[in-house]
Amino acid sequence: MSIIKDINLHKLGEQKIEWVKKYMPVLRGLEEEFVKTQPFAGVKVALSIHLEAKTAYLVKVLAAGGATMYVTGSNPLSTQDDVAAALAHAGIEVFATHNCTMEEYDMYIAKAIEKDIDIVIDDGGDLTTLIHKDQKKASTIIGGAEETTTGIIRLKAMAKRGELMYPMMSVNDADCKHLFDNRYGTGQSSWDGIMRTSNLVIAGKTVVVAGYGWVSRGIAAKANGLGANVVVTEIDSIKAIEAIMDGFRVMTMDEAAKVGDIFVTGTGCKDVIIQKHFDTMKDGVLLSNAGHFDCEVSVADLEKNSVSKKEMRKNIMGYVQADGRILNVIGEGRLVNLAAADGHPAEIMDMSFALQALSMKYLLENHKDLENEVLAVPREIDLLVAQRKLESLDVNIDSLTQDQIDYLNE
Ligand code: NAI
Repeated sequence: MSIIKDINLHKLGEQKIEWVKKYMPVLRGLEEEFVKTQPFAGVKVALSIHLEAKTAYLVKVLAAGGATMYVTGSNPLSTQDDVAAALAHAGIEVFATHNCTMEEYDMYIAKAIEKDIDIVIDDGGDLTTLIHKDQKKASTIIGGAEETTTGIIRLKAMAKRGELMYPMMSVNDADCKHLFDNRYGTGQSSWDGIMRTSNLVIAGKTVVVAGYGWVSRGIAAKANGLGANVVVTEIDSIKAIEAIMDGFRVMTMDEAAKVGDIFVTGTGCKDVIIQKHFDTMKDGVLLSNAGHFDCEVSVADLEKNSVSKKEMRKNIMGYVQADGRILNVIGEGRLVNLAAADGHPAEIMDMSFALQALSMKYLLENHKDLENEVLAVPREIDLLVAQRKLESLDVNIDSLTQDQIDYLNE
């Protein structure tokens, strides 16, 4: 039995899924194949990914290939109730409600793995962590795939301690994932979230981007495109030079806190912006986070030290400081592109989720030979997704002649 907000919302959810499907040609092609070949017949899959329309379409594609799906979200604010309703209405078991408490969130994840599970599709590692609390359960699982950087870091730590009990495919590390999803996807959708929630101008503002990895590079590039003055903070000297060469100012967060108008964190780290930074910020700044967990902008510090708080606009909480300044947090400091917008554009998730679907097929076909490690997605799968994406865009590229291959191998 699904646990969702309201099944009557299903029509709106179906409309959203139909919309994204049109822009996900690679996944659509896989769906056509899977309907015929049924590669997942009899396979039970627990999935925990931000529950919006693109994810729902992935769920439908896997189900069309024969899988029985148990679905939950991967963040309380990113779940869309109408999309959850559409899946439940289609007969898929869903455990997710928007804005649930953390207790409910944990309960939903537990529900998704309550039955016997063969495969795990995770985003951030919460599902895998919970499964490993029950060694008996973990030992029955064939393997899984992880969607994001933070999840991969957690999984690698488990593998290093010798605790990982099944192989996990590192979808995030495939080129067709992080090059496009983390960079361009988060870049565009984070600004979508910040702009639609605040309805303020970006041009001319000083935007402070914490980190200069895949996610934060994309956010900085799009801020630049919107006409902002971009400041980058980093802990890695090489990334810092890269930011400088890309034309951005680099400074510490202590310095940046004083000059920024809009802050976006995307580091995967914690306590990137804390009280000592809040103390020196300008009145009216916007604070947001695009990293996986809501610990980059310390909302805990704001909750503790502010004299009061008030909702300034839908999804923007204003924290009033003792001197009267108001610091505005978007989407509770959770991933701004999902908590305050609809996540990455469909065309980008087309590649990420095609990788997920093909990784799952690979896992089923090869699991007996795989170690209990974090495993790279085979290059052939990455290239297949890229080729199909190009085909869908009607773009041809050159190929090497034998003569050229010989020349390059000399
Ligand atoms: P990455 O490893 O490519 O980049 C992280 C960067 O942050 C690195 O350059 C690192 O040196 C820097 N960094 C770490 N701690 C820092 C600190 N305290 N101050 C300043 N810089 C710091 O990782 P990636 O792929 O960019 O992912 C970052 C986070 O975003 C992860 O939590 C990931 O799971 C999440 N993510 C979020 C998405 C979304 O839809 N919002 C999509 C994809 C990833």
